[in-house]
Amino acid sequence: MGALDNNKAQTSGEADKASTPLNHTNTGTSGESGESVKPRNDEEAKTEKKTRKTAFFGVPLIVPYIRQYGKRIAFMIFLGVLSSLADTIYPLFSQYAIDHFVADKTLEGLGTFTLLYLAVMIPAELDNYYCLYSCGWVEMHIDRDLRNTAFTHLQTLSFDYFNRNSVGYIHSRVMSDTGKIGELAAWRLMDIVWNLSYIVLVIVTMLMIRWQLALCVLAVVPPAAVLALVLQRRLADRNRNIREINGKITGNFNEGITGLRSIRTLGIEERMDEDFRKDTASMRTESVKAAHYSALMTSLVTMASSVALALILWQGGLITRQGVIEIGTLSVFMTYAVGLLEPVQALVETISLLTGIQVNIERFTDLVTQKPLVQDSPEVISRYGDTFHPKKENWEPLRGDVEFQDVSFHYPDGTEEVLSRFNLTIKAGTHVAIVGETGAGKSTLVNLVCRFYDPTGGRVLIDGKDVRLRSQLWLHSHLGYVLQTPFLFSGTVRDNLRYGREDATDEEIWKALQLAGADGVVRKMKNGLDSDVGEDGSMLSVGEKQLLSIARAILADPRILILDEATSSVDTLTEKAIQDAVDAVISGRTTFMIAHRLSTVVGADIIIAVKDGKIAEMGSHSELMQKKGYYYDLYTRQFTQSGWEDQE
Ligand SMILES: Nc1ncnc2c1ncn2[C@@H]1O[C@H](COP(=O)(O)OP(=O)(O)OP(=O)(O)O)[C@@H](O)[C@H]1O
Ligand SMILES: [Mg+2]
Repeated sequence: MGALDNNKAQTSGEADKASTPLNHTNTGTSGESGESVKPRNDEEAKTEKKTRKTAFFGVPLIVPYIRQYGKRIAFMIFLGVLSSLADTIYPLFSQYAIDHFVADKTLEGLGTFTLLYLAVMIPAELDNYYCLYSCGWVEMHIDRDLRNTAFTHLQTLSFDYFNRNSVGYIHSRVMSDTGKIGELAAWRLMDIVWNLSYIVLVIVTMLMIRWQLALCVLAVVPPAAVLALVLQRRLADRNRNIREINGKITGNFNEGITGLRSIRTLGIEERMDEDFRKDTASMRTESVKAAHYSALMTSLVTMASSVALALILWQGGLITRQGVIEIGTLSVFMTYAVGLLEPVQALVETISLLTGIQVNIERFTDLVTQKPLVQDSPEVISRYGDTFHPKKENWEPLRGDVEFQDVSFHYPDGTEEVLSRFNLTIKAGTHVAIVGETGAGKSTLVNLVCRFYDPTGGRVLIDGKDVRLRSQLWLHSHLGYVLQTPFLFSGTVRDNLRYGREDATDEEIWKALQLAGADGVVRKMKNGLDSDVGEDGSMLSVGEKQLLSIARAILADPRILILDEATSSVDTLTEKAIQDAVDAVISGRTTFMIAHRLSTVVGADIIIAVKDGKIAEMGSHSELMQKKGYYYDLYTRQFTQSGWEDQE
């Protein structure tokens, strides 16, 4: 494919610039963008190391993704071989032209010759086009399939996976690794097919024309291939280092931007700058080394080609003078001599890249074979369906009784028990407030109600039945959760609220907004419900985001409503409004309200004061105040504090 052009270029001294269209490999000195995300923590680094060790562990898993396009790929290979055949044939036209039209000084048969040339050239170019198009087609289809699989699988994974792995790391698995696998099945494969078939066809043709001269060319190939292999290994090592440093730089850069406020206030600009400079210095060193090997490689190919050419000129010249071969044959050998080394180098390069792709495959398969920590049992799935195929006809309604029976829990990567032998019974419709100091285990408690984690001991019952006996989707679709850190999706206010209930009308949306006290926020916005909230609601204040997420939870009309510090970022007036809203919407639902500001929990049916993962006290506000225990201390401390602040 394009070999004739390449050969022309090489004989005119431009060998270093020549490349085949299919030669999609990258020996560049810069890091690959997709690899640019550094492992965030030891866990990620461990996964990296583990995947490097388990050779070919993931390969069988990606075979089905490639096999489904098997026919297209097989046709692509066939076209690739045809393309190489055409490239091998082109110099033979030159041979004929020189021997017949130039040497014999005749134009006889020129018409037929031209027609024949066109008959080869036109189909060959069509073949090239379709081959390149197919490569792109196969690559994109495989990319899409792998990414869809990875994303779908991510939706089913438990929170522990996301705690262990950074967004950047996961992003790299879903986007970059899949891309590399797509490339493998298309471009890398075609690199191998084209280069290998070209080498074989040229060698066979040379042997058929004149084996003595063929041996001259072939003598150069093995040492050149070995040298190329050595240089390619070194280049690959350098490129790997560059990717790692690039990842570090990207990570530091991200932190430098996102943490700018903290950097300024901590006064650590100089340290950040120094770190950045250190990384860019090592990047420069490695890149210069890579450039050195890259240049050596190109020179090697040119030099080997020149040696092959010199041998042909020497031997061929002698033989031509003896009249054994014609000048056209010599010209063919010259073209082959120069053109053979580049595919050899490209093949070496592709083979070296395959080792890297193996890592991509293993990392991808590592992601899609991750088992979610919280899983529905096969019996549950067969009755209630899974996340993507719910069997809603079998779903029973949820009343809202919640019970913790001897529940113990520690986070998968935590050693200390956050809850130990925790017992609590909540009747449906109860308004429960959970209070306690930071780190007491309040969020953990509600996370267990939501089954974001399974308890390590004991059980959580919903409506008297172990929560594990019904599907997570069943539970989640009856839950409303306003997070400690509210999250909005990019899009409009309407889009965001409809995540609560897909078919909600504008009227219902406004009603929910009113109940949450968020209607004022939306009315203030330029386009009302059609206003854009920005990525993660970046165009709103945290308090406004909280109000909208409360409205979204209300719209979903959940049986169990969880508000985790939902009023922590709003002013006292808004807090009062939310309080009224909560009072209005909680009737008939089990509500867990975690609050630091104890003024918001006074009206709760039960206040649970959690201390070190255990219930320190439980009762209504007045009961607990009378008791003068832990809650009383918390409350009076806060009251005194705020009274003191007021006086200030
Ligand atoms: N993903 C996690 N992995 C390991 N430990 C965790 C994890 N999340 C929380 N913890 C630990 O569990 C304990 C309880 O955390 P939890 O989030 O339940 O506290 P909290 O009472 O909600 O605190 P806050 O009022 O600050 O929100 C803490 O000691 C915390 O460090
Ligand atoms: Mg919390």
